[in-house]
Amino acid sequence: VQDGYGVKGMADLGLSKVPARYIQQQKERIDKKNARMCVLPAIDLLKLEGDEHDRVVEEITRAAETLGFFQVVNHNVPVKLLEKLKDAVHLFFGQAPEEKAVYRKGLSPSPLVQYGTSFAPEKEKALEWKDYVSMIYTNDAEALQHWPKECKEEALEYLKMSLHMVRKLMELLMGNLGVKPDDSKIDALIGFKMVNMNFYPTCPNPELTIGVGRHSDMGALTVLVQDGIGGLYVKLEEDIEDVGKKGEWMEIPPIQGALVINIGDTLQIISNGKYKSAEHRVGTTSTKSRVSIPIFTMPNPTEKIKPLPQLAERDGGARFREVVFQDYMSNFFNNAHEGKKSLQFAQ
Ligand code: SIN
Ligand code: FE2
Repeated sequence: VQDGYGVKGMADLGLSKVPARYIQQQKERIDKKNARMCVLPAIDLLKLEGDEHDRVVEEITRAAETLGFFQVVNHNVPVKLLEKLKDAVHLFFGQAPEEKAVYRKGLSPSPLVQYGTSFAPEKEKALEWKDYVSMIYTNDAEALQHWPKECKEEALEYLKMSLHMVRKLMELLMGNLGVKPDDSKIDALIGFKMVNMNFYPTCPNPELTIGVGRHSDMGALTVLVQDGIGGLYVKLEEDIEDVGKKGEWMEIPPIQGALVINIGDTLQIISNGKYKSAEHRVGTTSTKSRVSIPIFTMPNPTEKIKPLPQLAERDGGARFREVVFQDYMSNFFNNAHEGKKSLQFAQ
């Protein structure tokens, strides 16, 4: 298969078996028969406005401290927009390979927009069964000029509406550390924004492949909309009451209209380990292609990241060293997905 066809281009040829370079080592494969669903109900953000405010804050904080993942409803991003966005993503990936290939690294009309396949192909032992487009946000005009026309309006609207929620969640999570950084610091921690459109084509051997390998996200908070196919799994770092046992992988079930929120490495570092950046991965299926659209909110590249000094003092020491986010990011992108290894860069 020609380079640049993507996994979808290859899957469309009607393979009966995946090529050898997509076959994962046994330990990376997902045991779907034994995976359980994470049963936590979605958190209703509308209740933050009412007399249940404190209870909801407590619920969010606890999720951030334990699983590192939670789902939200009444997030103010119109559910219709989310549906339109998912359709638009299908429209983009449904195009001929040549149409998508114009966004490949080095060819793309903008370095901020990139189409690719797998994550770090030259570093991976086995490739991931996934195509994607990542779009770094700088301003609306730039986005509307360069993002793929099939989805740019929906993606931009989704990003902008989600950012209000991210800002609010950051306020709330930072507030609960006891030593709240000032507004400009919070802004700097989520100053760098990227939207990805992920496409996981149907796969003839879902038991042998993965869509995305084990990793944690590097930024502050990730917002994700997924479709109804399922396949996002999170690993429990500790026993969690009413959820599961340490080391167990659980599926984050698709909930119509909900958004998935997860904590990234940056928040784990800033909070001196109080908030957990959860290890997660994505499976593949043989029946239907899946789309997901994450928004990564990350520190500005020049931002210095380290545990909040008052927190480190209170905890009897900083558990992470200071890193410049740009360096953290280079380390992240120059290595294959390998669980929470990315965090070691700050240790
Ligand atoms: C990711 O974590 O990289 C993707 C998550 C998803 O597709 O659900
Ligand atoms: Fe992720």
